[in-house]
Amino acid sequence: MNPADDPVRPGPATAIELVVDGRAVPGLAGQTVAGVLLGAGRRTWRSSRSGRPRGVFCGIGVCHDCLVAVNGVDDVRACQRRAADGDVITTTDEPR
Ligand code: FES
Repeated sequence: MNPADDPVRPGPATAIELVVDGRAVPGLAGQTVAGVLLGAGRRTWRSSRSGRPRGVFCGIGVCHDCLVAVNGVDDVRACQRRAADGDVITTTDEPR
């Protein structure tokens, strides 16, 4: 089989850019918002009611630890939302 015909072989990466808390953050098409944040070195981006840091915990949409606002819509699970070029992401230290 020609390696280029392999259906699971990743194609060329397409660069995207998000705006996270007012700052441009690069990512790749196909990443989740959480993937872009983690790739930018963020490990946490909100707090629990008791003030403990939260970011990705389950990574599969169950725990809601990764909530962010995307384009003005609150409480979006960053691990489930595919990032799109130009998305505006707002994080907060306030409990959600
Ligand atoms: S990390 Fe658990 S819902 Fe996103």
